[in-house]
This record gives sequence, structure tokens and C-alpha cells, in this order.
Amino acid sequence: MAATQIGWYGLGSMGLAMASNLQRHLAAKKALGLVYSNRTLSRGEPLRELGGVPEKTFGDVVQKSGIIFTMVSNDAVLKTLITSIVESGTPLAQKIFIDCSTVHPQTITSISAQLSAQSASFLCAPVFGGNPVAAAGKLVFALAGATPDVRENLIKPLIQDVMGRKVIDCGEDPARSSLLKIAGNIVTVSLMETVGEAQVFAEKTGLGTDAMEELITEAFGPIAGGYSKRLTTGAYAPPLTTRPGFGVSLSIKDAVHALDIAKEKGVELPSVELAKQNMSSARDYAGECLDSSSMYGILRQKAGLAFWNEKSRQGGQ
Ligand SMILES: NC(=O)c1ccc[n+]([C@@H]2O[C@H](COP(=O)([O-])OP(=O)(O)OC[C@H]3O[C@@H](n4cnc5c(N)ncnc54)[C@H](OP(=O)(O)O)[C@@H]3O)[C@@H](O)[C@H]2O)c1
Repeated sequence: MAATQIGWYGLGSMGLAMASNLQRHLAAKKALGLVYSNRTLSRGEPLRELGGVPEKTFGDVVQKSGIIFTMVSNDAVLKTLITSIVESGTPLAQKIFIDCSTVHPQTITSISAQLSAQSASFLCAPVFGGNPVAAAGKLVFALAGATPDVRENLIKPLIQDVMGRKVIDCGEDPARSSLLKIAGNIVTVSLMETVGEAQVFAEKTGLGTDAMEELITEAFGPIAGGYSKRLTTGAYAPPLTTRPGFGVSLSIKDAVHALDIAKEKGVELPSVELAKQNMSSARDYAGECLDSSSMYGILRQKAGLAFWNEKSRQGGQ
């Protein structure tokens, strides 16, 4: 295991934090340093400082690694990466790919087929928890694909107590963990919508957002409390020079995946539909540099308040 080169592609809000924890673990074990790449390679500087080794392209990472993690924004990016590497003719036999992005189960099934046609393995390992949880190495992973032996003895040791606090084993079909992730997002986006509604209610009734936040945190737990903080700290609409914690378009993508699957199965998800509409309206109003909690701005507007609160940025797309 110590001799297997591990690679990483995708250093966004989540990927950089996760890869940094993996690199710290590898360094502590005196294993080979993580080889990594990213579309914007300069984002990997903190990882290089930890002992990671930059590579120019995804192809370079794949060529040099036996186990390759990916953490990218959406289905289209992941499909492009995998198709490009398959079509490049790089020998992929025996390589193990693990994708941690949130994508549709159909995307996972098609990628898995592409890679198994090359005699490579594919595991799907999406995560629950935002950037601070990723930085703390406390994510919850849903892991599926390959054999129980590969999952338990090869991949789980790279995740458990390294990048995550819990690995939920979803079996051999990689689409199962993707489906679990999409199902979990039903709770995520609905909870964000609900916390936003409660905070607008608190402001308009004079109850105050501080009291509401204290109650939300104490009575409904740190996750709901964290969602409230995204609103009260203004992180729902961060400065245009920064990257949002969880970009609004990524959350809309998650909601659309859940709604698509629900429709196919004859299930209604009214709270997800509402959250999606409010996130889309927020994006129309304030552009891409918004967090997934930015439905709050629209809820504020509907209540006669400004989209921006005193801690958020004050305008601009
Ligand atoms: N943020 C969260 O709270 C959270 C929680 C759980 C799951 N997720 C999921 O995790 C995944 C990553 O989320 P994130 O918040 O880390 O996203 P992010 O900060 O937007 O980062 C996206 C990553 O994808 C890369 N990328 C985007 N477009 C690309 C393209 N056309 N070609 C190559 N690379 C491209 C970005 O490269 P650049 O650096 O060059 O832009 C970056 O490495 C998403 O699927 C998201 O839904 C996010």
C-alpha cells in the first residue's frame, strides 16, 4: 500500500481541504506524496507546501498514480475528464478511480462502464458536510463500488479518520452511494430553506436573528445552526473576490438531480422544488458568487427586506 502512488484532481472548496488531509496522512505514514492537479493549478500551493507534487494535467496525475481521487463541480466536468483519459489511450488497467463529487447516479453508471471496459475499477464516494467539516477531516462518506475487500482494506483506510469521521458502505454498485448522496441533499436544501424562512420571520417579528440562531443551534443541532450562521455572517452572499463555501449552482444541480429522480419514481419533493426556485431567483438577482443558502436573500425580498443583510456584500453580480 505504501508503494501505491495516490493522485488527486480537483482543488475547489472541498477538494483542497480533503486532499490536504490526505497528504498530511500520507506524510505521517512516510508514504509517497500525493500527486495532484487542478484546472487552476495555483490553488494547489498549500498542498505543495504540505509535500504534494503538482502535475500539469489530469492525464499526468492518472499516468503516475495507481489510485486516483476526483472532486470536481458537476457531471459534465467529471464526464469530460474520464472520457478524455479513456480516449487518450493511457493504459488504465488495474488503476482505481474514486470520485467524491456529487453527480447523478446515471453519470456514475456510465463512467463505471467506461472504466471497467479499460479494466480499471471505479468507486463512488460522495461526501456530506461543508468546507469547515472537510477541513476538520470529519466528513461523512457514502462509499460504493469494487469489491468489499478493495473498499474495506484499500480505500477506507485513506478515508476513515483521514478525510472523514464515518464511511457508509453502500455495496458494489457505485450508483448506490450517488443515490444516497442525492437523497441526503433533499434534507440539506430543504433545511436551508427552512432556516432561511425562520430567520426572516425572526427579523420581521422583532424576535431577532441572534435569539433565533441560538435556538436553532441548541434545539436542532450544529448543522442547522451552521446554516443559520451562513445567513447571519453574510456568507450567503460573500464578497465577489471570494469563492462561496458551497456555490449556488452546485446546490441547484443537486436539487435538479433529486427532482429528476423523484419525478421518474412518481415522488413529489415540494420543499426541494421551492428551494430550487428560490436559489435560481437568487442567482438571477445576484449572480454566481452566492452560497447555496442564498435563497435567504429572496425570502428577505419577499418579506419587503433588501436581498443583502448588514454582513453580506451589498450588491453586484
Ligand atoms: N461545498 C460544499 O459544501 C459541498 C459539500 C458536499 C459536496 N459537494 C460537492 O462536491 C463537489 C465539489 O464542490 P466544491 O464546493 O469543492 O466546488 P468548487 O469550489 O466550485 O470547486 C470545483 C472544482 O471543480 C473544478 N472545475 C470546475 N469546472 C471545471 C472544468 N470545466 N474543468 C476542470 N475542472 C473544473 C474546479 O477547478 P478550479 O479551481 O480551476 O475552478 C475545482 O477544482 C461538487 O460536486 C459539490 O456539489 C460540495
